[in-house]
Amino acid sequence: MSLRETAERLVEAETVVALTGAGASADSGIPTFRGKDGLWNKYDPRELATSEAFARDPERVWEWYLWRRRKIAEAEPNPTHTVLALMERDGLLEAVITQNVDGLHQRAGSRRVIELHGNIWRDECVSCEYHRVNDPERGEGLEYDELPPKCPDCGDPLRPGVVWFGEPLPHDALVEAENLARSCDVMLVIGTSGEVRPAADLPLVAKSCGATLIEINPSETALSSHMDVIIRERAASAIKALWGEIERLS
Ligand code: APR
Repeated sequence: MSLRETAERLVEAETVVALTGAGASADSGIPTFRGKDGLWNKYDPRELATSEAFARDPERVWEWYLWRRRKIAEAEPNPTHTVLALMERDGLLEAVITQNVDGLHQRAGSRRVIELHGNIWRDECVSCEYHRVNDPERGEGLEYDELPPKCPDCGDPLRPGVVWFGEPLPHDALVEAENLARSCDVMLVIGTSGEVRPAADLPLVAKSCGATLIEINPSETALSSHMDVIIRERAASAIKALWGEIERLS
């Protein structure tokens, strides 16, 4: 299917949903997890992204998440984030379901963003209901007097509000994402290796309900064999070109 035909498919669709992974933020300079420069090649996720690691060494886990927060705070949304926000504005996209925790979809203007793996800017108490969302543009959440920071309500440690390996996904987000996967007629699958469930199951749910799957990724993924359309390119350039075709149609 040509880029023009793909644009036509998107424009004529009833409900388009995007599922994004770390590759959608790669063009903003934020490292992905797998692949040649992936974070999991340099760091052991069992040491940094599990509740056991946090119980063992909360200070080390916080230092790593603060390092990631600083990289994200220095980054800007790229055309992938911007075009998805424009598509939503123009009624061409229902929602973004993201595995990313960087908040760049929201910074680009997307309004309906379902965060399956939480948000790196949230602090959550390990014991009580206390939580807050930091605003890096106001310098919040980038440094603390002590690590781990303490809950202002109960005094127990605060943790980053992201989903760690072995933890359940936020129930409401997962239910909303599954409903969107069932109801969409096109799913854009952008910048994900398709290695982590249940997020990676969503394209299969969509396909089983008759959706057209479009993969935008410079490399082959665990989901590629299920795709109806494959754009084997970096997302920023591919989605910019796709948006150009969509604009020519309207
Ligand atoms: N444009 C599009 N895709 C890209 C780009 C780019 N510029 N650069 C890299 N990619 C692709 C890679 O080819 C790979 O398929 O992005 C994907 C990144 O894969 P992962 O690093 O596995 O990221 P993701 O699929 O989001 O991981 C899922 O795993 O570690 C957990 O919680 C973490 O949410 C993450 C989950």
